[in-house]
Amino acid sequence: MAKDDEGRLSEAEIAVHWKEEAVYRPSTKFVGQANLSDPAVRERFAEKNFPECYREFADLLTWDKYWTQTLDTSKAPFWKWFVGGRLNVSYNCIDRHLGQYRNKAAIVWVSEDENEPDQVLTFQELYVRVNEMAAYLRDFCGLKTGDRVTIHMPMVPELPITMLACARIGVIHSVVFGGFSGEACGTRIHDSQSRILISMDGYYRSGKLLDHKVNADIAVKKAAEEGTKVEKVLVWKRFRDKSASPTPMVEGRDFIVNDGLKAFRGKRVEPVSMPAEAPLFLMYTSGSTGKPKGCQHSTGGYLSYVAGTSKWVQDIHPTDVYWCMADIGWITGHSYIVYGPLALAATTVMYEGVPTFPDPGRPWRIAERLGVNIFHTSPTAIRSLRKVGPDEPAKYNIHFKCMTTVGEPIEPEAWKWYYDNVGKGEAAITDTWWQTETGGFLCTTIPGLDPMKPGSAGPPFLGIYPIIYDEKGQEIPPGAGRAGNICIRNPWPGIFQTIWGDADRFVKNYYAKYNHKPGSTDWHDWPYFAGDGAVWAPDGYLRILGRVDDVINVAGHRLGTKEIESACLTVPEIAEAAVVPVVDAERGRVPEVYVSLKPGVKPEGVAEKVSKAIETVIGKIARPRVVRIVPDMPKTRSGKIMRRVLASISNQMDYGDITTLANPEVVEQIRVQVQGAGPVTHKAGPSDIKEFGKDV
Ligand code: PRX
Repeated sequence: MAKDDEGRLSEAEIAVHWKEEAVYRPSTKFVGQANLSDPAVRERFAEKNFPECYREFADLLTWDKYWTQTLDTSKAPFWKWFVGGRLNVSYNCIDRHLGQYRNKAAIVWVSEDENEPDQVLTFQELYVRVNEMAAYLRDFCGLKTGDRVTIHMPMVPELPITMLACARIGVIHSVVFGGFSGEACGTRIHDSQSRILISMDGYYRSGKLLDHKVNADIAVKKAAEEGTKVEKVLVWKRFRDKSASPTPMVEGRDFIVNDGLKAFRGKRVEPVSMPAEAPLFLMYTSGSTGKPKGCQHSTGGYLSYVAGTSKWVQDIHPTDVYWCMADIGWITGHSYIVYGPLALAATTVMYEGVPTFPDPGRPWRIAERLGVNIFHTSPTAIRSLRKVGPDEPAKYNIHFKCMTTVGEPIEPEAWKWYYDNVGKGEAAITDTWWQTETGGFLCTTIPGLDPMKPGSAGPPFLGIYPIIYDEKGQEIPPGAGRAGNICIRNPWPGIFQTIWGDADRFVKNYYAKYNHKPGSTDWHDWPYFAGDGAVWAPDGYLRILGRVDDVINVAGHRLGTKEIESACLTVPEIAEAAVVPVVDAERGRVPEVYVSLKPGVKPEGVAEKVSKAIETVIGKIARPRVVRIVPDMPKTRSGKIMRRVLASISNQMDYGDITTLANPEVVEQIRVQVQGAGPVTHKAGPSDIKEFGKDV
């Protein structure tokens, strides 16, 4: 299992210890209507048919020009899919549906404020608004094909409208999650070299109207400090008749989009025919260094993959009402709120606010009222809805045919509550494992074909051939009962193309580990290293244990420990900081922060300052559960902080052998500070998984 020289204890090592569960089968009613229930599909996607098997995905789209080569590996591992093909994403998500579905709802938006009416956008209205926005971006902002824009917006219909408008004119969008701080947005503006920032004045969150425009000012300032000048800030209005923000507009720089669009009423913009391999968007994610990586996703490969997975895993038909409760600011929202469902002409529901606001019945009221029949959410949301409103789903007339979970391992108990109470024993569940980098699902059951097994994501998806390696590059076969590093041996259409502006890091992070022939143009030589620990059961189902790198998966969102540590170090009193993942019953993992102070500094108020600094630099999402001020960090003789020891202490685990440390005495001091004066506690619970190569 991957370990760095600072001995970090990874999420996967604080592994889940669940029993193997009995399987559940989808109902005949579900299978009868499923998009995919023919087992022959597995044969069509067998390795011998790779890569041509992926034609089936591309054929879900409308191409301006059909491609000539399915997969070009000549610049491995910079894969090119559907080479020679041309298409436009906004055309595929909107225009081509107008003939049959013009008056069908494309997007139904639900405000957090229950008294505010929904906004329903038919495909016709979406078409009109996307065209007007595309004209505004092109003619007012001077944006052209290949330019980048940063979008820092909450969950409002104007967000997908803006994304689709960019796609219409071949502009690469970089959507930054609305909950990230202005500073985090500024760093991403600089990295992507965006000269336009698109924002919004405000939005509702837990019943409060938040000022969001203020973040745009901070972002522009931060980008300028890093060397990028934002020329225009475009601000959407949350309300038609009033401003949602007290922050003033900057003359000559800031523009209200809603006003500017008036000059473009009724304008139509020809969709720009883009090469299949042109970048569609960037999505920043955290990795093992302090700097977030801009994952670059393609046009043809990405859209084919999200359309295919939406059709065959989420079982979306155009007549379905589909609701994914994620935020569009994350990859799940891009792939499975916007692009996948709209490519299939589904009705996609968007909700502005917090699922438990004003009470835990809210999601079920929305689903009942809108007739949602496909539901998609994260284990964190499931755990929290179960905790605060276990009996709520029963009070509503909701009937889902299928449901998805994504983002973190889901424990069998939470899975069963989801199945019995939310799905009412009728809905097929897919536990989908994938990542920002992978564009779409990698491991999941196909609901019309495979039984479900609580706690396991499932078999690899169509055309995906995984392998589990140990640290030395030896294969751990299915059924070995040992965990290792999960890799995907082959490319697939949804895989990201590169890290924006950092091709070396792309190769190093994701491919170098298990590649033995750096010059090879044969895909077999380039297993994709996912950064997750996994176990492969004899029945072919994969259980994902968590990250093996310096990433913490908090409530299904990735946070880099080094990013959080550098935020801590902006507090002048702090000498050293270490961030570790800690198991949390609701959010999966949460960061805990250890800091030591500079000599002579008084500890009063420092913990609060550290928390505040993390919020400012990253956002509230990274707020640590606790900031612990310690006399010194446990260190190796060469002076490296032993985060593994701190993580063990925080997770109530035995910290193991510390005799080789430079300052072993400090470890016991910290343990007593965190765990109390009793004896060293040990990891609880029986394990059915032999961890990372060793028997436990
Ligand atoms: O550790 C895995 C976990 O989330 C990571 C990817 O995070 P991100 O790029 O933010 O994308 C989240 C949405 C796809 C993975 O490396 N993860 C994702 N899905 C699952 C999961 N862990 C277990 N089970 C899953 N279904």
